[in-house]
Amino acid sequence: MSYPRVASLKNGEAFCRHLADSSIDLPFDEEVQTGPQSPLGRSLQVHDQSIGNRFCILPMEGWDGTPDGKPTDLTRRRWQNFGLSGAKLIWGGEAVAVRHDGRANPNQLLMTKANCGEIASLRQELVQTHEEHFGNSNDLMVGLQLTHSGRYSRPNEKKRPEPRTVQRNVVLDRRVGVEDDTAIFTDDELKQLTDDFIVAAVEAERAGFTFVDVKHCHGYLGHELLAGVDRPGRYGGSFENRTRFLSDIVEGIRGATNGLNIGVRLSVFDFVPYCPGEDRIGVPEPGNEPRKTFGGNSTGDGMDLSEPSRLLELMYRIGIRMVCTTAGSPYYNPHIQRPAFFPPSDGYQPPEDPLVGVARQILAVAESKKQHPEMLFIGSGYTYLQDYLPNVAQAVVEREMADSIGLGRMVLSYPDLPADVIAGNNWQRKKVCRTFSDCTTAPREGIVSGCYPLDPFYKAREERELLKAVKAKLQK
Ligand SMILES: Cc1cc2nc3c(=O)[nH]c(=O)nc-3n(C[C@H](O)[C@H](O)[C@H](O)COP(=O)(O)O)c2cc1C
Ligand code: SF4
Repeated sequence: MSYPRVASLKNGEAFCRHLADSSIDLPFDEEVQTGPQSPLGRSLQVHDQSIGNRFCILPMEGWDGTPDGKPTDLTRRRWQNFGLSGAKLIWGGEAVAVRHDGRANPNQLLMTKANCGEIASLRQELVQTHEEHFGNSNDLMVGLQLTHSGRYSRPNEKKRPEPRTVQRNVVLDRRVGVEDDTAIFTDDELKQLTDDFIVAAVEAERAGFTFVDVKHCHGYLGHELLAGVDRPGRYGGSFENRTRFLSDIVEGIRGATNGLNIGVRLSVFDFVPYCPGEDRIGVPEPGNEPRKTFGGNSTGDGMDLSEPSRLLELMYRIGIRMVCTTAGSPYYNPHIQRPAFFPPSDGYQPPEDPLVGVARQILAVAESKKQHPEMLFIGSGYTYLQDYLPNVAQAVVEREMADSIGLGRMVLSYPDLPADVIAGNNWQRKKVCRTFSDCTTAPREGIVSGCYPLDPFYKAREERELLKAVKAKLQK
């Protein structure tokens, strides 16, 4: 598989020529406009509130909370960077577990009564940083992402999976060591978990967040339930049953809060799990079950948006107006979730030009937006566009293929990118994320996440040497 690095495509013309030669369909605006009336600078309205521009910071955790789920200085620094970015929508900050057994790692934040004050100050510091840089925060919207990590729970030890699942899955069970049905949540346990989400949402409202994200993506519990075709009982099988968890949580939050808004981060399509094949290039793992991919087609490596569209219709009916889209899972098919040139240490070489992965997510969102124009869609997976991110982002927004452009890895390396683009400041090429994947590899190896190659703060930390040594060992 050969394709050029984006950094080697020296200008927009070369980038577009590569797209055309490779039949990759991406919109591209040659000139990026600036100022508050520009396509990316214009505001949006939702839930009677204004969001000041079209950039959104995607949730990103750092595996750096305290053992009891409170933020540390590292967490605070990341959130302050989100505040100074200039983006006016902060989607969730990072994944915050609603209870201990649902933490993806022993350092994940936990939204409990005891932690409410510290998580409130995390939000407040973000808002304050934003105000210091941009004058006010009237058109800034900040939500909190609530989660249970389900199959990917590791609440007690970084390297010890303690999976809780909703149905058996040949490949994924093998990966997390599920050997019998004891890891499967009962219906009563799911009912209890619904209540735990509602309690956490009440705390999030108390902490000052404008909305909560009831996370349904990346193979975590909510997402796995959507694909629970083989699960018997109230939460599995039919579409109505597979979406009951979400509907019940939304209804419960409405009853228990004073108008807290609700959004959903959704893997809008999924593929089967991939593994390294010949030359470590990713291939679908043998034994996979395409039926158990939500938004996937019968081949296991293609999209079918009919059920996701039905879900979006249901969400609208129950009052959800904001959807932050993503795809697949970073655990079992990272090339569709966060396209990268360099895979994380435990991954596989991309089976396609990563730009194909970017285009796939953009296409899926455009299709969803076309079918549900009344909802606000945030897109993800743009980081791999690198120097051409603003050109594609503007073209997407102009053509109403999405309402807001989500930024993940790019803001770890280049936090003030949204402010630079909207103000028309010089493009800071040295800060552009080149998708080295260290921010994913580090936590997979038990090290706090951060942009070790480009962020001077992480470059100077001692963990960088540790990460280098681990990577060198893995490459042998
Ligand atoms: C270090 C890191 C942490 C992440 N943490 C979360 C998270 O807590 N919740 C979530 O929904 N997605 C998380 N993601 C996924 C990102 O939100 C985003 O979907 C992904 O990085 C693709 O967008 P990008 O191409 O702009 O990076 C994380 C990604 C990275 C790299
Ligand atoms: S470590 Fe830095 S350069 Fe590498 S993918 Fe993460 S943000 Fe990008």
